[in-house]
Amino acid sequence: MSQFASTRIDPFADEVLRDPYPAYQTFRELGPVFRIEPYDIWAMARYEQVDSTLKDWQTFISGEGVGLKGMNPALPRPMTLQIDPPDHEKGRRILARTMSPGVAKNLRDTFQKEAERKIGELVERGTFDAMTDLAIAYPLKVFPDAIGVSEEGRENLLAWSTFVFNSFGPDNHILARSRDPGLTAQKWIMDRCARSALRPDGIGTMIYEAADAGEITEHEATHLVRPFLTAGVDTTINGLGNTLLALASHPMQFAKLHERPALARNAFEEGLRYDSPVQTFFRTTSREVEMAGDIIPARTKVLVFMASANRDPARWQEPERFDVERPVTGHVGFGSGIHACVGQMIARLEGELVLTELAKRVKSIELIAEPERMLNNTLRGLKSMPVRVTAA
Ligand code: HEM
Repeated sequence: MSQFASTRIDPFADEVLRDPYPAYQTFRELGPVFRIEPYDIWAMARYEQVDSTLKDWQTFISGEGVGLKGMNPALPRPMTLQIDPPDHEKGRRILARTMSPGVAKNLRDTFQKEAERKIGELVERGTFDAMTDLAIAYPLKVFPDAIGVSEEGRENLLAWSTFVFNSFGPDNHILARSRDPGLTAQKWIMDRCARSALRPDGIGTMIYEAADAGEITEHEATHLVRPFLTAGVDTTINGLGNTLLALASHPMQFAKLHERPALARNAFEEGLRYDSPVQTFFRTTSREVEMAGDIIPARTKVLVFMASANRDPARWQEPERFDVERPVTGHVGFGSGIHACVGQMIARLEGELVLTELAKRVKSIELIAEPERMLNNTLRGLKSMPVRVTAA
């Protein structure tokens, strides 16, 4: 019988997803490892164990799926997120190549122009929805443009990724609600991953160049474009949205950013720490693991709370405080170790440019109605956030 502390709190219950931070505090206090009874799984919520678990890919594997359930054998074999070395390396190497500093440099000008255009238009309006008009609209324009995806039908990207991120959690009503729209969007997504559907000068086509060079098959290339379309949009949208909410709720912090727009990059990073868009992922133990004087059995699901690690007082001074000047290096909002986010350079670029432009053009930002929360088994974010801005 395990001696680990256990809890009956369901981390995927509506009320916990709506405000998970009190539950995270309870989880951290339970100890370095604890059991979640409703799912009969193990979990970690402290920074030290979360970070070391993410780095120990031999013991805590991703190849059995990074969700609660095992891998669906009916789905094509993944090439990045849910695969272990040595097979993980090939897909990762090719994706990473398309995210080089040279690519970022080329994207910067286009992304910058769109940030100027978008913020200019919103400042003129004065009141707007910071989710639909900015945090959703901006990434949904610049990111698929960069990959080389056509304009028409982009709302499918949201339906698809909402479903995929929900499916890492349990079979609850949140997953059920997103299933039909997600499965309907799936065909659009797969069609967009085809070579013929991608703009020849986009990042998607760079993946097919690896097929031309014989590194991967044409079929594998299709499945390497897909992770971009799954993982690249909703994550960034909620990273931006959560940071905008933190700024609108902390006027002094926005004032600092306005005074010093060069803080924008750090402010985005602090937003990812303070209210992480990706809250959790699972791992599976490849063997029996001795931890904190007890044993996690082999082939067991372990829930890793990244968003809780980012609020752990053992790692961060006053973690509940949103502080745009905080040294934030080491947060695990992009994960850690060999699966750490391959797209972080693009996400950071988007965050930096939007916040820089906002900081320059706007003196203050305030909520004018209660924001509406979106519930997802993995992602944390909002549906809507009505705000008013005052031009600088
Ligand atoms: C992996 C978060 C943006 C593509 C990850 C992981 C996290 C994460 C936590 C680690 C998963 C794990 O350890 O199991 C985020 C956040 C983003 C973001 C918070 C935005 C703020 C992006 C973008 C792209 C992307 C823009 C595409 C360009 C990926 C891929 C992986 C990944 C392909 C899997 C990497 C691997 O398994 O080696 N992301 N991500 N992400 N992300 Fe992101």
